[in-house]
Amino acid sequence: MAWEPARPATADSKQVEGPAHLPPDGVSPAAPSEPEEPKLALAVRDLRCEGLIEAEQVDTVEPRFSWRLVATVRDVRQTAYQLRVDEVTGAPGATGASFLSKRIESDQSQWVTLKGFSPKPRTTYTWKVRIWNNHGQESGWSAARPFSTGLLGGKWPADWIGDGRLLKLHETLPARHFRSHFKLDRPPVRARLFVSAQGLVEPWINGRAVSEDRFTPGWPDYRHHLFYAAYDVTSLLRKGENVWGMILADGWYSGTMLPHHQSGPQPRVSAFLDLVDTQGRVTTLTTGADWLTTDQGPIRMTSIYHGETFEALRDRAGWSAPSPDDDWSWRPVEVRKAKHYSQALLGRLAPPVRRIERLKPKSVTEVKPGVFIYDLGQNIVGWARLRVQAEQGSQVQLRFSEMLSPDGQLFLGSLRTAKATARYQARGRGVEEWEPRFTYFGFRYVELTGVEKPLDGAIEGVVVHSDLPRIGSFESSDPWLNRLHQNALWSQKGNFLELPTDCPQRDERLGWTGDAQIFAPTALYNMDSGPFFRQWLFSVRDGLRDGLDGGFPDTAPHTGWGFGSAGWGEAGIVIPWVTFLHTGDRQLLAESFPSIQHAVELMAKQAPDGIRRSKPAWGDWLAPGYERYKAPPRNELIATAYYAHATDLAGRIAKILGRLEVLSSNAVLHQRARAAFQKEFIAADGRIADDVQTSYLLALAFDLVPAELRSKVVAHLIRTLAQKDNHLATGFLGTALINPVLSSIGRADLAYEVLQKKTFPGWLFSIKNGATTIWERWDSWTPEQGFNPDNMNSFNHYAYGSVVGWLYDTVAGLQPLPDAPGWKRFRVAPIPGGGLTHASASIRTPYGVATSRWRIEGKDLHLSATIPPNTRAEVVLPARDPAEVALDGAPLAQHALASGIQTVGDRTQLTLPSGAYDLLVRVPENPGPASD
Ligand code: BGC
Repeated sequence: MAWEPARPATADSKQVEGPAHLPPDGVSPAAPSEPEEPKLALAVRDLRCEGLIEAEQVDTVEPRFSWRLVATVRDVRQTAYQLRVDEVTGAPGATGASFLSKRIESDQSQWVTLKGFSPKPRTTYTWKVRIWNNHGQESGWSAARPFSTGLLGGKWPADWIGDGRLLKLHETLPARHFRSHFKLDRPPVRARLFVSAQGLVEPWINGRAVSEDRFTPGWPDYRHHLFYAAYDVTSLLRKGENVWGMILADGWYSGTMLPHHQSGPQPRVSAFLDLVDTQGRVTTLTTGADWLTTDQGPIRMTSIYHGETFEALRDRAGWSAPSPDDDWSWRPVEVRKAKHYSQALLGRLAPPVRRIERLKPKSVTEVKPGVFIYDLGQNIVGWARLRVQAEQGSQVQLRFSEMLSPDGQLFLGSLRTAKATARYQARGRGVEEWEPRFTYFGFRYVELTGVEKPLDGAIEGVVVHSDLPRIGSFESSDPWLNRLHQNALWSQKGNFLELPTDCPQRDERLGWTGDAQIFAPTALYNMDSGPFFRQWLFSVRDGLRDGLDGGFPDTAPHTGWGFGSAGWGEAGIVIPWVTFLHTGDRQLLAESFPSIQHAVELMAKQAPDGIRRSKPAWGDWLAPGYERYKAPPRNELIATAYYAHATDLAGRIAKILGRLEVLSSNAVLHQRARAAFQKEFIAADGRIADDVQTSYLLALAFDLVPAELRSKVVAHLIRTLAQKDNHLATGFLGTALINPVLSSIGRADLAYEVLQKKTFPGWLFSIKNGATTIWERWDSWTPEQGFNPDNMNSFNHYAYGSVVGWLYDTVAGLQPLPDAPGWKRFRVAPIPGGGLTHASASIRTPYGVATSRWRIEGKDLHLSATIPPNTRAEVVLPARDPAEVALDGAPLAQHALASGIQTVGDRTQLTLPSGAYDLLVRVPENPGPASD
């Protein structure tokens, strides 16, 4: 049988119109919907503190509160709100301090601060809100929601403990266990555990794991910050003897990260317990000299890149129980005093990593005697749950791969030096189940060896990623585009694991900034990624290096790669900006601003004449047909274009923050870069240096073209596309711009054509060849050459998934607006094309679900739009004359809620308040591409 890559074995061979593989189990293509019908005409839901549903360690002195209105009628605006915050004390029935705002006349329902409320550190509060609207209705008080504060600048009271062993580069050690006993006269009324680590930790109390979170407490830039997480552990404590313990692994701290980076040689953990009694008194227990440690636990090896080895015979479920059942030999810990730590301790700002989905294999094949390969039908990130029945002491091994070799065996080429192997030594008593804890794999196939006959359900795929709410969905009449959307979503799931990584499988998995900045707009549509980016941006800023070769780091946390590379180093400016557009979080801009300004001034020094002649960087990374680093345009062109873009964004950010002192200097830098770009790179005939698609895309996307040359530049772009038979010829940087630029110049028709090509190079080429995630290269695998011979060849790299933002913002047409960020006001401006007969997208915005759903019937374009309460939308339709548009079955002009009706270019624009609407446009004979 001819071998086909990455195709589920269960897919039958019948040729179908769309991609052969449909979304796998566990993926719901359905739009997010309102979770509940309001009983009242007006209600408040979805209370978040600092943007988080679970706000366990709020470390901001002025916490911000957000809520969502639920209304049954149209045109609903909040006109006033009142907030109440109550401190939760220990004493049953007793309340602590309360803070009640006045009734505040305002339509603000996101990121609201409570004047006069200064939270106490390490304290739990509840809060609620009620609101009034423009129809004279009052919501009544919302249900109360808790939040707890972190240190708030206070001292971390616990010392740090380790076992004294130092890891050499590339060394791996068993996970260490730590524990200590304490006695309680009575159970506390409330108990909170705070835990930080250099390494990864799993806290246990009285024989039970404290939480389902994984990779706690995360991955900061250890030189500058240490993250901590906090948990309510009240229910785990009891009167009498108690034990608390920690399992500690090297993780990203002592494990060697590419290229040769280790943050420190000895993992350590530090934790404290705040125990509150009935009188509200707090007793604090800490890690310190009374703790014991052992390396005799069951996890014999654990490493992010290489996997995990577990010897079940050593496992003792009760190692942290009040009467421990282990026979491990324990010894004193090595203590490092808290005062030796200069890093700032920061309460985690992002949701934790968790196990999110489970996938059953589609097939299993015994490829050689005793070698079983399971196919999940989907390239995922996480691990496999193993179910075995085997003799005592026998070794079971799991290896993981994204693809199969032509001989049906695992293709391990995409792992490079990562061993990515899980080993389990059986206890030998009945059916045993096991999952690794401190490692992860990128895979579709699992190879099981060491069992004669696998049990039913021997392998289950466990999908692991940062637990970010899914907020976006997209669906259209083109199943190939739907699969592309799914593939990008899977690559986001796979690479949004604690921080945005390039890839999840090989010896890399780093926070590459270039990849993240091009994918961020897509990411923000798919998932509520605001707090995730906010937390990672601490590491991006921590990596900012001064000097002529400085800038934001190419990887954050910094792991030894470079700084300020064109298209990578600007992530510290671009990501705060796009995140602000989607979330409205102004604090994110404020905390980013000093570094943004610093980075801009560094770039100015690198570009005294406006041309940024920075050191060679990555170029238009992985553009087809070029060796690494060699893809044009030349580096100065990319660097100068991005410099102009960065100064433009820095100027906008300064304006929003009222930082007037830098406004004019940033504007001067921007003008200088723009003028220098034009002089140096754009010829009088509109040709741009190197004459490749990306040269034109950068110039047009970042508004670097003088008005009088614009049409000529556009013509050259169109020519460079035509030379490739309207295929893209772009790498990471150009690819992110191609569709947005084409639609912005009125050539959405071409954008659709480039997007829908199934031939090489293009997005659908990989899908035609079985991709279930986004590949790193346009030719990661081709029928002619098979696997790309370069050893850097990931099959799960979200970078080229950046086009999916265009499915949301142009095909479906949902766009946040910079002057009303966070979807307070937004656009519904679909541009149908590409032969699509319908398309729709839904986004659960901070205000509620926004939807754009269109279909073409005969000559009619039907658009259903949902606009959440407390927002307004600008609807833009392909009709020159507003008279061609009907709203709810009546002429537009007669509709009481439509305002601002006007013709802009060749389209009709109108503004609508909240509600669900049906619009109808008679499509002109030849709609052509719509333009802005
Ligand atoms: C990574 C990329 C990254 C690049 C720098 C690669 O090894 O996987 O995605 O951006 O290096 O060009």
